[in-house]
Amino acid sequence: MAAKVKHHVRDLRLAADGLRRIEWAEQDMPVLRAIRERFSREKPLKGVRLSGCLHVTTETANLMRTLKAGGAEMRLCASNPLSTQDDVAAALVKEFGISTFSIKGEDRKTYYAHIDAALDFRPNITMDDGADLVSRIHGDRRDLAPGVWGGTEETTTGVIRLRALAEEGKLLFPVVAVNDAGTKHLFDNRYGTGQSTVDGIIRATNRLFAGRTVVTAGYGWCGRGFAMRARGMGAQVIVTEIDHLKALEAVMDGFQVMPMARAARIGDIFCTLTGDINVLRAEHFKVMKDGAVVANSGHFNVEIDIPGLAKAAKKIRRGIRPFVDEYTMRSGNRVYLLADGRLINLASAEGHPACVMDMSFAVQALSAELVAKNAPRGKMTRRVYDVPAEIDKFVAALKLKSMGVGIDRLTAEQKKYLASWEMGT
Ligand code: ADE
Repeated sequence: MAAKVKHHVRDLRLAADGLRRIEWAEQDMPVLRAIRERFSREKPLKGVRLSGCLHVTTETANLMRTLKAGGAEMRLCASNPLSTQDDVAAALVKEFGISTFSIKGEDRKTYYAHIDAALDFRPNITMDDGADLVSRIHGDRRDLAPGVWGGTEETTTGVIRLRALAEEGKLLFPVVAVNDAGTKHLFDNRYGTGQSTVDGIIRATNRLFAGRTVVTAGYGWCGRGFAMRARGMGAQVIVTEIDHLKALEAVMDGFQVMPMARAARIGDIFCTLTGDINVLRAEHFKVMKDGAVVANSGHFNVEIDIPGLAKAAKKIRRGIRPFVDEYTMRSGNRVYLLADGRLINLASAEGHPACVMDMSFAVQALSAELVAKNAPRGKMTRRVYDVPAEIDKFVAALKLKSMGVGIDRLTAEQKKYLASWEMGT
């Protein structure tokens, strides 16, 4: 099968390992499985060309299987140069016949060549995690825009970029903000990032969290998740924020909140989860304790000022362990940068567990179906769409059912009470 499927992956001989791990993830993805079964029967994506730019993981492989079962023709590339699981990329090509372009550790040139390979497919639907496909179509590949019905976007950073584009009136096709669905960000961003970021830092360093001071930059859903789990591991957690409301919430949640200039002096482990640039910079590295660990779990590798770190250092030793570089400051203190400042949870660990990606990717599959049904008929305009409430409700209900959890129904009296304004004491 692989011979006919266009691809660029590390090694097709890894496919058998990839297949076993994809099947393992599938066991914990009951919602996506149910959608796959319906898609196999109904083929709502029949003949649709879909290009995905996603982290190439076991969970993504199960999404790709679902879209293929729905009749889509697909090309997949990575949404981060370090997040690809090479065995999964091999299995996608060899076992599932899905055209895949991604290699863990690919350089910048190859990363963009892979994005272009996915776009050369002339997609009707784009599926992004970080808006790289959409950005490219709005830049050098504008010729493709007329053929694109619409897109879907997985992550906070991508949605921010798309809203900026729409705000300027420049968005060329509709895009569904999958990230903003409750069944996505409340679970994936919080519980997924929380666990997988701790996992990534531990796999890279084998450092103990208990008794350490962990600094969380940002208290959005991802920051909340990481702070919560770091505390659960026994760390003292400091939160830094630029938003008064979020800072107040962190204080009330029982965390210490302070400016990074102060936190930099006392932290043992730092993690950025803000979506913004240069959150950790030279002025911070210079005052860090000897042995401080710095990592990023935000989408792009811009949150840690790495050129600033290199400039502040008198010596750099790369790869002292996998995903760990040592920067010795002029003071003699050593600062350890993890995974080149790229998404630590996907670089040194396996990303979010399948149980949460089940919901995120169920929303992705249903949003692709929504675009395929509505956009070609002119029922969607050039704007950023929220995921319809019915999709969120459907995914939540199915997830609860798969967990064997029942909930109550409103009685007729309760319905009436909630619909009236006169009734009180
Ligand atoms: N983003 C975070 N974790 C992920 C995973 N396991 N698969 C795909 N995208 C992800």
